[in-house]
Amino acid sequence: MSKILVTGGAGYIGSHTCIELLNAGHEVVVLDNLSNSSEESLTRVQALTAKKLDFVEGDILDQHILDHIFHSHRIEAVIHFAGLKAVGESQQEPLKYFDNNISGSISLVKAMERAQVFKLVFSSSATVYDEANVSPLNEDMPTGMPTNNYGYTKLIVEQLLQKLSIADTRWSIALLRYFNPVGAHKSGQMGEDPQGIPNNLMPYVTQVAVGRREKLSIFGNDYDTIDGTGVRDYIHVVDLANAHLCALNNRLNAQGCRAWNIGTGNGCSVLEIAKTFEKVNGIHIPFEFSPRRAGDVATSFANNARAVAELGWQPQYGLEDMLADSWNWQKNNPNGYQD
Ligand code: NAD
Ligand code: UFG
Repeated sequence: MSKILVTGGAGYIGSHTCIELLNAGHEVVVLDNLSNSSEESLTRVQALTAKKLDFVEGDILDQHILDHIFHSHRIEAVIHFAGLKAVGESQQEPLKYFDNNISGSISLVKAMERAQVFKLVFSSSATVYDEANVSPLNEDMPTGMPTNNYGYTKLIVEQLLQKLSIADTRWSIALLRYFNPVGAHKSGQMGEDPQGIPNNLMPYVTQVAVGRREKLSIFGNDYDTIDGTGVRDYIHVVDLANAHLCALNNRLNAQGCRAWNIGTGNGCSVLEIAKTFEKVNGIHIPFEFSPRRAGDVATSFANNARAVAELGWQPQYGLEDMLADSWNWQKNNPNGYQD
């Protein structure tokens, strides 16, 4: 078993991945500046696994901290979650996103090179695909110019990592293109804890359910979809976390840079989410239709055949599990990790 550096490991997907890494017997070092998370998530990771991890509070832009980590630990691979992800904010403050997500990733791979660590799993996004592609999206389809600066940073980092691995064959890099991560750990003790008003659908729905928000606004009911509302591929965060372990295994004896879609392959509409949430959890979700949100596409779901075939990964959880687990987390922790 090996020692893994997890950047952004205190965040939503990172903390769930730490659980799976520790349960699989890996040692874990987390580097997180806590800009969008709290250390409490890592306390819970350790309580749930009854295992210790090393936590370093710091920034991926800080070369000294990175060098210190690589000198003090025999790191075999890095899973790189650290980044900012608020689409709206990325339009208001592009430089913050370019710096944190692009310069931050460059800073990390420079430190990895100095330390002679060449295995990397990067959190990418389905947003890198060209909007003209028709779902199911597969990895051979062209990437495009994302409609927002957040998505743009993901595309740029993917391209930088691809070029890096061509120039230096010691690199072995997995680009995981996540679709829509939702759900929470079965314990109900860990989950998504967005700051302020949630941008994403699932935390908004659970905050309506818990009474923190009055009603859900459904952005657009005139799309060319099953019921007029947007269709996405929701993936349980524990399945997503496990995809990182599969990707790590794949990269241990491989070279180059390769992309994999991480989604279930099933499209689901916003109305289906609201209705299924009501059915599974027995809670009414009031909603209203409002105008389309700028930059949204009608439909986005994955062809996940490459990940299934090459990574040996298979999603285990269906939509009802995702909605039950999201609610279990929210109802146990109405104010997230602040409870
Ligand atoms: P998150 O905000 O919960 O986690 C990101 C973590 O990175 C946070 O703990 C934050 O404090 C930390 N961080 C941010 N900038 C940092 C820096 N400069 N140095 C050190 N730590 C830093 O987000 P998440 O949902 O867990 O997402 C993890 C990754 O997956 C991100 O890169 C995100 O862009 C990507 N992603 C997320 C989604 C999604 O819908 N959640 C979809 C596609 C891709
Ligand atoms: N939606 C609503 N109401 C809300 C929130 C969302 O109707 O309050 C709808 C959206 O219009 C969309 C669906 O719910 O049809 C999912 O929206 P999310 O914001 O949860 O997810 P997106 O598919 O828009 O976002 C994903 C990733 C981002 C990424 C983005 C790129 O979560 O990281 O794709 O478009 F940047």
